[in-house]
Amino acid sequence: MARVEQIFATSIYSAPLGGPRVKALIDELRTACRSIAQEDIAGQRWSADAGYKGYTSYASLDDLPMRNPSFAELAERLKPHLVEFAAAVDFEMRGLRPEIDSIWINVLENGGTHTGHIHTNSVISGTVYVDVPDGASAIRFEDPRLAMMMAAPPRKARAAAHNRNFAYFKPTPGTVLLWESWLRHEVPTNLAAEDRISVSFNAVMV
Ligand SMILES: [Fe+2]
Repeated sequence: MARVEQIFATSIYSAPLGGPRVKALIDELRTACRSIAQEDIAGQRWSADAGYKGYTSYASLDDLPMRNPSFAELAERLKPHLVEFAAAVDFEMRGLRPEIDSIWINVLENGGTHTGHIHTNSVISGTVYVDVPDGASAIRFEDPRLAMMMAAPPRKARAAAHNRNFAYFKPTPGTVLLWESWLRHEVPTNLAAEDRISVSFNAVMV
């Protein structure tokens, strides 16, 4: 009897943020994201220069947990998720633990997109979703072996999830998504009339 086994897995972690008053925290994060997006002139300028339709604090602010307690609370609540993901992918921790070293806001307007990228200098990356209106884009992950598939046939439209070269996730607000930072991903064009709001972060081992 033949066996076909799946090896070299790429893991995506997804879980509700959890804990008390999640909806209130997400509401606070939304308010904070919007007010910081209004006030952060350097971030607005960087977003415009980078062709990011909307606002990201990625390049302009490195102190969100100090600016607003909702980000500090979020970072604290993400800790057990990071630990669980590290365990799920069998990292040999050697006494280390994953710690968030950067956290930033993404407000993607209608028609906005975030082209393919990886998160350099970090180990685990992730996003917490704040607003995912109807028509908002999913996040798309790319098979890290894609560059090696010069002669490989395309996959069937209905290929099994583990055989596809791209994977789409469209989490609901309050969901935590984690992946290893080397995994290339993008946010295709946001077709929602309203903004798609999320908070992303990188974690390193300390
Ligand atoms: Fe990203």
